[in-house]
Parts: sequence; structure tokens; C-alpha cells
Amino acid sequence: MKSKINPIEKILVDKEEIAEICKRLGKQISEDYKGKKLCVVSVLKGSLPFTADLIREIDCDIILDFLQVSSYVGTETSGFINIKKDLDTDIEGLDVIIIEDILESGTTLSYVEKLLLERNPASVSICTLLDKPERRKTPINAKYVGKTISNEFVIGYGLDYNEDYRNLPFVAILNPAIYADTEEGAKS
Ligand code: IMP
Ligand code: MG
Repeated sequence: MKSKINPIEKILVDKEEIAEICKRLGKQISEDYKGKKLCVVSVLKGSLPFTADLIREIDCDIILDFLQVSSYVGTETSGFINIKKDLDTDIEGLDVIIIEDILESGTTLSYVEKLLLERNPASVSICTLLDKPERRKTPINAKYVGKTISNEFVIGYGLDYNEDYRNLPFVAILNPAIYADTEEGAKS
């Protein structure tokens, strides 16, 4: 049965701030890639809402494609990355921008960046809605960052906890009682 505990500890990025972030980053990307054709690689599933909002603020020609990798179980990375869906586009010679929901240890993005660089694109840059630099294990830099946050597990606007809460229209800190409840549930 679904938990009755309120999953939201605190709203961290509300709808208005998300809209401002998309406008700011969209403007910056449009200036940086002016006159170029940009391949936007959205990392599924978490970056879907951010990608949908961001591309409508980008004023240059784009090709939209999706990549799906998996590494997370609950609130912890498994450290093992698996490609679940590869790109349809041949990115050789193209300028590529990877869109992520959140950059944490850097394991996922360094893997994705390396994978795409092996395909000889003209360039690869990273755009992340959220950055948790305190959790970094692999050195990686996102050229475009929506907001830097502290070390808390967040949900909403694409971000999940065991596949729940992706449809919240804002980003919130997950109530820690939810993990305790899930762990209890798993034991019984
Ligand atoms: P990294 O490989 O540790 O940098 O983690 C990147 C991926 O982990 C993201 O694309 C998310 O899917 C997931 N992730 C990291 N932190 C959180 C969080 O606070 N909430 C939900 N998912 C997260
Ligand atoms: Mg993700």
C-alpha cells in the first residue's frame, strides 16, 4: 500500500524559479550556439520535464534525441551504469548538449560524456538543472547549471524516489521518513 506520509519536506525550487532557470539557460545556450545546429541529448527519465521546458527557450535549430542509462536504486547509486536506450542520431560532427536533471557523484555524466565523445561530435557540453557539488566523486563540470544545491535527496520535476514523484511541478526535499517507511515496508 502507498505510504500516507507527506513526501515533501520542503520545496526547494518552485515553478516560478524553474521558469526563470529555463529562460536564463535557454538564452545563454541560444547565444553560445547561434547559427549552429545543436543536438540536444536528454538523459531519460529524469530530465524529461526540464528538457521540454528548456528547448522552448532555445532559439536555434535543434535535433532532439534521448539516451537512457540506469545506475540508481533508492537513494544510492549502484555505481554500475547500463545503457537502456541509445541515441537514434549519428552525432559525428554535431554540437551536442547533454541535458540532465541532477549532477551528483558525476558517475553518470562522465560515462555519458565519454560515450558521446567517442562518436566524434564537434563538441559536447553539459546542462544540468541541479548540481550537488558536495557529492562529487568524478571530476566533471557542467557548463550550464540551473541551481547548486546542498547534499539532500530531492524529488519532483522529473526526479524520482523509486520511480515515484516525477510529476510534482516543483523540486522538493524528500521527507526522510519516507525512506524509513520504505525500509520498514521492505522488512515486513
Ligand atoms: P550521479 O551519477 O551520482 O552524478 O547521479 C546522477 C543521477 O542520479 C541523476 O541523473 C539522477 O537520476 C540520480 N540522482 C542523483 N541525486 C538524486 C536526487 O537527489 N534525487 C533523485 N535522483 C537523484
Ligand atoms: Mg537522471
